[in-house]
Amino acid sequence: MTLVLGIETSCDETAASVTRDGREVLSNTVYSQIALHEVYGGVVPEIASRKHIDKIIYVIDAAIKDAGIDKSELDAVAVTYNPGLVGALLVGVSAAKALAYGLGKPLVPVNHIQGHIAANYIAHPELEPPFVCLVASGGHSHILHVKDYHDFEILGATTDDAAGEAFDKVARVLGLGYPGGPKLNKLAEGGDPQAIQFPRPHNGFDFSFSGLKTAVINYVHNAEQKGGEINKADIAASFQQAVVDVLVGNTVSAAKSVGCPAVALAGGVAANTALRSALKNAAEADSMRFYCPPMELCTDNGAMISCAGYLNYVAGMRADLSLNAEPQLKIV
Ligand code: KG4
Ligand code: ZN
Repeated sequence: MTLVLGIETSCDETAASVTRDGREVLSNTVYSQIALHEVYGGVVPEIASRKHIDKIIYVIDAAIKDAGIDKSELDAVAVTYNPGLVGALLVGVSAAKALAYGLGKPLVPVNHIQGHIAANYIAHPELEPPFVCLVASGGHSHILHVKDYHDFEILGATTDDAAGEAFDKVARVLGLGYPGGPKLNKLAEGGDPQAIQFPRPHNGFDFSFSGLKTAVINYVHNAEQKGGEINKADIAASFQQAVVDVLVGNTVSAAKSVGCPAVALAGGVAANTALRSALKNAAEADSMRFYCPPMELCTDNGAMISCAGYLNYVAGMRADLSLNAEPQLKIV
């Protein structure tokens, strides 16, 4: 039995979790900073870092207590060290180093994207590579061929904005506030996804959301200048449909191109109800298996880091006390 503590502070959630053998969640504590950043309309990195410092010890203690274990029973301390906000990452990395050193336990580095993918292993203990995974979140959007637990090939990616970033920006234009993704998702439920034909730019398995975002902004400004009423629910539903069409079309085509019979979804945007059902339907229509974590494991959490940390631990990956926070994206 292997108990791994996972620590996640890459953006605006202070999170920690203990898992057993990488697939069983014993605790999953998340302190969300959303309310704190809401007034600014987005994440303020300096505020995020300071709040992580305030909360990290309490969140780690709660995760260990909820798991019903003593910290001396941990086999390893895993932590997200890239990619993310550098000041935010540093808090988790520093806490993990101190704990690992103090307990005399191995320190295991985890890539945040690898963590998002690993949320699927928790939700579906039978899932094993190979599969194709669409990872769509606030900072990154990739279609990955997960050939093995540590062997990833990028099949497609955004050439500009991440999917979550586009959701957040369009939500802001519609006056929905932060975080925009879930609010836009809710509003879209009452709208007509065919009401407005927004562009669906993609090139091969790559895609782009910057032009789509601009098209929505122009549509809203033009309507406002003409003094007409805008139907926000129709705009939200039509924008969401454009994003979903591109992501689903490209993911299924990419999976077919590598002959992969299984498709998974991960990252904060995987909480989007329209994306979840569209990708499930499209994959299953092509006789592919479909996997998706429950909502609470899609957005940032400690359990996915603990699970990925377990995989890294059994693969022999270790960090020493020189481990540093790295803001830049690295997957393969
Ligand atoms: O993975 P995540 O929690 O943080 C990053 O690693 O970036 O993803 C956060 C992103 C935000 O952009 C948020 O608006 C988006 O995921 N998101 C959603 C939904 N829930 C969260 N986007 C669309 N629909 C949702 N229901
Ligand atoms: Zn994330």
